[in-house]
Amino acid sequence: MGLKIGVLGAGMFATEFIPLFQAHPLVDSVALAEINPERLSEIAGKFGISETYASLEALCRSDVHAIAIFTQRHLHGPHALQSLRAGKHTYCAVPMAHSLEDVRAIVEEVTSSGLIYMTGETSYYYPSTIYCRDRFAKGDFGDFVYGEAQYLHDMSHGFYDAFQHSGGSEWKQVAGFPPMYYPTHSVSMLLSVTGAKATHVSCLGYRDRHADGVFREDSNLWRNAFSNETALVRTSDGGMARLNEFRRVGWSGKNSVYLSMFGTLGSFEEHADSSIWTSIVPDDIQPLDDLLRTAPSIAHDGEDALPAGLRRDFHSGVSRVHPKERLPAGFENMPNGHFGSHQFLVDDFVQSVTQMKLPPNHAWNAAKYCVPGIVAHESALRDGEQLPVPDFGEPGAQWEHLKL
Ligand SMILES: NC(=O)c1ccc[n+]([C@@H]2O[C@H](COP(=O)([O-])OP(=O)(O)OC[C@H]3O[C@@H](n4cnc5c(N)ncnc54)[C@H](O)[C@@H]3O)[C@@H](O)[C@H]2O)c1
Repeated sequence: MGLKIGVLGAGMFATEFIPLFQAHPLVDSVALAEINPERLSEIAGKFGISETYASLEALCRSDVHAIAIFTQRHLHGPHALQSLRAGKHTYCAVPMAHSLEDVRAIVEEVTSSGLIYMTGETSYYYPSTIYCRDRFAKGDFGDFVYGEAQYLHDMSHGFYDAFQHSGGSEWKQVAGFPPMYYPTHSVSMLLSVTGAKATHVSCLGYRDRHADGVFREDSNLWRNAFSNETALVRTSDGGMARLNEFRRVGWSGKNSVYLSMFGTLGSFEEHADSSIWTSIVPDDIQPLDDLLRTAPSIAHDGEDALPAGLRRDFHSGVSRVHPKERLPAGFENMPNGHFGSHQFLVDDFVQSVTQMKLPPNHAWNAAKYCVPGIVAHESALRDGEQLPVPDFGEPGAQWEHLKL
């Protein structure tokens, strides 16, 4: 018998994943839960979903095996906990949560229940991250020395539309989410390559001045005035990293997420429009643009509905470094997005629940990607005071890991 997946939230991002869950050969059916009744019936109709629910509570009472959460970013911690406590395996779009308490509770819940929790980290399957992970595993970097990772996404590049889509007249309350509460696209690139953890962080914030008033103490739920935050991190392998999470920045690159890594033997550098490998061997400079370029995605149904600033990130196929042969054959002519990552994330989750083996982005790694940012924002509020990053441990020895 195949899996029954319940998708929570029928917003812009969920609609990129529903058809992939439906097309996966190990999935029997997909149900949909959404609190906005018009949106529920529109999206259920569009994807031919007959089983619908008006709330998370109702979805939790249903017989779905797993819940895939695509609600707004500030709701993820409580929604994931509710799903796990109802006995459902849980996939959640990033971030895992924005409080240490919720992260701790999710890790404890997964530990005691034996359920699968997976964070939907798109950066994990970006070409640059895959390339660096492979070369790091082969020893080509030597020891990790220093990394730079950044998620540069100006508010005007689709974020106004994205936050207004569900935020109504109160949209600014959520749009002013502290940038470091959404750190996982950058943190995961570095830490999923090295396997290390952040141990200490110091962060500074840029006090926003824009007339839209999104990042102001009196306009959002977190009393947050920072639109850009920069953190310096110490990692458990003795390395150093600089993270930028910018939401107000005059910048356009081929991507919005960037990685550079320097090791004692070799280095990878990614710029706005190109990337290279270089090493300790004199004159070794290898251009990587052809290798890492992603193909256009198969056209998405209704893709013009997406704000222009989001379309390029949402819709992109695989590069030559993606191990696409491991994907179900039926995915080949399906849409993909975020630099080839969507199809891999769906397959990871479905395979892990079916085999009861941990996916790469399991709860303990999700904590590793998320917690440095939560502490970084606290540091920014204290004008850069260096703070320790709590360690939420590793999965127990009883767990097998998915072989991909
Ligand atoms: N690269 C990435 O990983 C990436 C990219 C885009 C979005 N995201 C994440 O995906 C998530 C969703 O983004 P989006 O743009 O689709 O948001 P959205 O606002 O378009 O959709 C969220 C939907 O969840 C529904 N919802 C909220 N609470 C609910 C509940 N209790 N029960 C049922 N439905 C509920 C809302 O009504 C809304 O329709 C965000 O958290 C965002 O961070 C990640």
